[in-house]
Amino acid sequence: MALDFRGRVAVITGAGNGLGRSHALLLGSLGASVVVNDLGGSWQGEGSDATVADAVVAEIKASGGEAVANPDSVAQGDKIIECALDHFGRVDIVVNNAGILRDKSFHKMSDEDWDLVYEVHLKGAFKVSRAAFPHMREQGYGRFVMTTSAAGIYGNFGQANYSACKLALHGLSQTIAIEGRNRGVQSNTIAPLAASRMMGTILDEKTMARLKPETVSPLVAQLCHESCDTTGGLFEVGAGWIARLRWERSRGAYFSPSGFTVDEVADSWDTINDFSDATHPTSPADTMRAVGENPHLVGQD
Ligand SMILES: NC(=O)c1ccc[n+]([C@@H]2O[C@H](COP(=O)([O-])OP(=O)(O)OC[C@H]3O[C@@H](n4cnc5c(N)ncnc54)[C@H](O)[C@@H]3O)[C@@H](O)[C@H]2O)c1
Repeated sequence: MALDFRGRVAVITGAGNGLGRSHALLLGSLGASVVVNDLGGSWQGEGSDATVADAVVAEIKASGGEAVANPDSVAQGDKIIECALDHFGRVDIVVNNAGILRDKSFHKMSDEDWDLVYEVHLKGAFKVSRAAFPHMREQGYGRFVMTTSAAGIYGNFGQANYSACKLALHGLSQTIAIEGRNRGVQSNTIAPLAASRMMGTILDEKTMARLKPETVSPLVAQLCHESCDTTGGLFEVGAGWIARLRWERSRGAYFSPSGFTVDEVADSWDTINDFSDATHPTSPADTMRAVGENPHLVGQD
């Protein structure tokens, strides 16, 4: 039986094209009332076109779903959430998906390239999420999905602005997951790979044909459904593959907390970088625990 989203209200940003459109169509087909947000600009963040969101709303309605278009920029996140409340009376799901690119090698990156990417990806997700969060807390239910990128997780040539903001989105998601935990509000991050106008002509035709946005949306729906209790997670997804990532930490080396030399660090360099007996920390408490396990501390209390 398909997951049922009837009675749920989903806000999808950047839903006029590519991945966002696919998420909106899927959630709409599963019964959610969808706010199709899209500014309708170019992939480099220029211009606007309100008809882009209208077209996706028409598609959802044509298949019997419920949707409303919203042409605001994510920089005006409050207005997007207001639109959900005005039309559907609540907000249960926010998929932060809107995005642009301003690729430049780092030594050529201008303030403008940095600021614009930050405004859309990170500040935009913050504005939309902060506007929705109090409503979710109050109703005791909410689901966020942040959209990061392999470029954010691993870094990528020419994408310093984009990768910085993309990984920051996972930081935002992890803290929303912690702050929302006792209020039924969950947040997860996806790093998709999909053929879209943003991918341009980077990949060959055969690979592009496999990377359908529709192969990403089922993960989004799973993470947004009430039956899913996963929160704070990070997933890679594309072309029929879904996997979860986590932090891995070497056992590390211990030195005297009262002082040690750079030579001691150099001598332990291999140990510090040795992942053969790695652990998988999940919280700042794990950092405190590792620090507290320093054998040099024994007998010092
Ligand atoms: N396609 C991929 O392989 C890939 C890989 C990693 C991450 N992503 C991320 O997935 C998301 C969707 O990308 P896509 O490939 O579908 O690109 P896309 O260009 O097809 O869609 C992005 C949409 O966001 C909208 N948008 C841009 N700025 C906006 C703003 N200020 N307010 C509202 N809407 C705005 C655009 O109009 C566009 O419709 C982006 O966040 C992107 O960084 C995509």
